[in-house]
Amino acid sequence: MFRPHHMLLVKLGGSVITDKMNYRVLREDVLDRLAGEIAGSGEPTVVVHGAGSFGHVIASKHGIQNGFRDTSQLMGAAQVMEDVRVLNLAVTSALVRSGLPAVSLPPSALARLSEGKLENLDVDAFRRYLELGIAPVTFGDVALDVRRGFGICSGDQLMEVLARELAPARIIFCSDVDGVYTCDPREDPSARMLEVVDRSALDALPRTQRCADVTGSIFGKIETMLRIAAHGGGSMVINGLVPGRLAAALKGEEVVGTRVVV
Ligand code: IPE
Repeated sequence: MFRPHHMLLVKLGGSVITDKMNYRVLREDVLDRLAGEIAGSGEPTVVVHGAGSFGHVIASKHGIQNGFRDTSQLMGAAQVMEDVRVLNLAVTSALVRSGLPAVSLPPSALARLSEGKLENLDVDAFRRYLELGIAPVTFGDVALDVRRGFGICSGDQLMEVLARELAPARIIFCSDVDGVYTCDPREDPSARMLEVVDRSALDALPRTQRCADVTGSIFGKIETMLRIAAHGGGSMVINGLVPGRLAAALKGEEVVGTRVVV
């Protein structure tokens, strides 16, 4: 029997499951381990994943995030859609190999954007697969935009809509660092991880961090997480590269990470 309050929502960031520096390179060992941790939870789960090196470079080269301008973008859009499908098949296969029945629900087919904002998603399909005991897997993708022709539907936008519509018991973002830092820990040794982020903590962060890509910076990500928190579900950023951390977070255990609260 489907108990929606036990449903879990997980995002595997593109920086965790792919090698962000190398085009279309998967971190297969990390993916296999995370798939095992998700499958091991035994709870109904929706998995969202980012694009990493399968998406951002080509998408930005062709300006897909700004919408359709001319036909020179079409091969780029098709290439991004193909590349993220390749990644999505790897994610879905890893889950199935781990013993979790999973199905791919691609935004290029099931979502509509309006001026870059995710306005319409076939959430009923997600709900029905969950009820059957099959885990929906969706991902950052190119999608139709009713105003601009096409655009980028990010994993974070999907997380926001799914959090609002499915009211998950736990919402977890897997990153390649322990949580949200006061500044980039890879560049500044004085960086401090924040255990809790709310609106005022976000406003206090220095806006100098470089990590903008076609779907925005860390600030945009935290803004999205604050909106998710406003719908009632607290969410967490954890390090997906540390074995066992996702499994523990999915069980509701206390783990190293950043909680985002309103
Ligand atoms: C990006 O999705 C989608 C494309 C570039 C096609 P995300 O923004 O969710 O991906 P990551 O997690 O940053 O890699």
